[in-house]
Amino acid sequence: MEKIIINGGLSLNGSIHISGSKNAALPIMASCILTDDELQLSNVPNLNDILTMSKVLSSLGVKVNEEDISDNKITLQYFDSSKSIAEYDLVRKMRASILVLGPLLARKREATVSLPGGCAIGARPVDIHINALQNLGAEFTLDQGYIKCKASKGLVGCRIELPKISVGASESIIMAATLAQGESEIKNIAIEPEVIDLIDCLKLMGATIEMNGERTIMIQGVDQLHGASHVIIPDRIETLTYTIAGLMNAENLLIKGINVKHVKNVLDILHKLNLDLSVVDNEISTKKSFIEEGLEIDTCEYPGFPTDLQAQIMVLMSLGKKKSVIRENIFENRFMHVPELNRMGANIEISGAKAIIHPCENFFGAQVMATDLRASVSLVLAGLVAKGETQLNRIYHLDRGYERIERKLQTCGADIKRVQ
Ligand code: UD1
Repeated sequence: MEKIIINGGLSLNGSIHISGSKNAALPIMASCILTDDELQLSNVPNLNDILTMSKVLSSLGVKVNEEDISDNKITLQYFDSSKSIAEYDLVRKMRASILVLGPLLARKREATVSLPGGCAIGARPVDIHINALQNLGAEFTLDQGYIKCKASKGLVGCRIELPKISVGASESIIMAATLAQGESEIKNIAIEPEVIDLIDCLKLMGATIEMNGERTIMIQGVDQLHGASHVIIPDRIETLTYTIAGLMNAENLLIKGINVKHVKNVLDILHKLNLDLSVVDNEISTKKSFIEEGLEIDTCEYPGFPTDLQAQIMVLMSLGKKKSVIRENIFENRFMHVPELNRMGANIEISGAKAIIHPCENFFGAQVMATDLRASVSLVLAGLVAKGETQLNRIYHLDRGYERIERKLQTCGADIKRVQ
C-alpha cells in the first residue's frame, strides 16, 4: 500500500494552482443522463472519485471519454439503455453515486441504486433524497441493500420544503425536476457554490431554473435537455486548504486560479484574525502567521463555515496563542483526525460535538493514519510543519479529493513524497 512521507519544517515558497471542484464535477457528470447529447466538461480534477463516477455512469450506458482527463477534460454521452442499476461494488466506494438516482428516474422512470458508502463520517442517510423524489411522484422500496424506485407515469412537478438543508438531496431533486411535467417549487435548498454550478450547467443544457429568494428555486420542467460545454468551478476547499498551509508555514505562498467569491465567507474570518493574507484579483497571497486570539467556529451550511474545512482549521488553531473551539454541526462523527493530531503533539479535547483546541508549541512527526478525506489532509498540514518525519498511511482517502497534492507541495519546497 502507498503512503506519504513528509519531512517537516521547510518553508513553503512559490505558487499553487487550484484544481476544479470535485464536489461540483460529480453531480454535473451525473446530469449527463438527462440528455442524449454530449456533455463536455473541462477543469475536471483528475481524482479517484471522478474515475469512480465515470465507472458508475459507464455501467448505466454512458459513453465516457476520459482520454483527456490528464488535461482535466471529460466528455459524456448517455445512450439510453436497459441498464438502470447502479451496483454495490461501485456505489460503496463513493456516496455521491446516489446522485444518479434522480436523473435515471427522470429519463427511464425507474432506477435501482445500492445504498451508498463513502467517507466514514457519520450515519449519512439518504432519506431526504428519497422523500424529495417521492414528492415528484416516484415510489420507493428497499430491497437487500438496494433502493428501487419507479415513476410509472413519469415525474410530476411539486412544491416542497426540504426538511433539512442537504447538498446532495438538493442536487437530486433539482436534476429530476428539470424533466418533470410542470412546475416545481423547492424550498430550503442548499446554496453551496457546487449546487449553483450544477444549476448553471443545467441551464446551459436547456433547463428552466430560477432562484426565487435565498433558498427557494423554481423549475419549469421541459421535454428534453440538450448537450453543453461547461467549465467546472475551482475547488474552494482545496483553495482554503492551501491558504491554511501558507498561513502555517510559508515565506510566501500564492494560491492561484481561485474564485474569490466562493471563499469570501472564510477569508472574512481569517482577515479579522489579522493573519498575513491578502487577496488580489484571483489570487491569495499568504505568509506564516499565528492566530493571536482564541477563535470559536461553528460548522454550518454555506455561507457558513464549511465542515469540509474543519479538520484543516483545527491544525492552524493548534499553533495559535490561545484556546480555540470548533462545534461540528453537520456530521456527528467528524473528529476522527483528533486522536491522530494528538499523537503528533496537538492538545485537543473532544466533548460531544465540540472540540477544544489548546495551543501546542509545534507538531512532531509520527506514523499516522488517514481516516477520511479532509482528516487526511489535516495530517499532511501538520506534517509539513512538524519536527521530523511523518508517515501517512491509507492515503487512498487523500487521493479521492486532492489532485497531485505531493507534486503541488514539492514545487513550493516541501519535502513530501509518495512511497510504496
Ligand atoms: C456534500 C459534500 C461533502 C460535504 C457535505 C456538507 C459532495 C459530493 N459532498 O455531501 O463533501 O461535507 O455536502 O457540506 O458534494 N442528511 C440526511 N439525509 C439525507 C441527506 C443528508 O440526514 O438524505 C444529513 C447528513 O447526514 C448530514 C447533513 O444532512 O448530517 C448534510 O449532508 P449533505 O449536505 O447531504 O452532504 P452530502 O451531499 O452527502
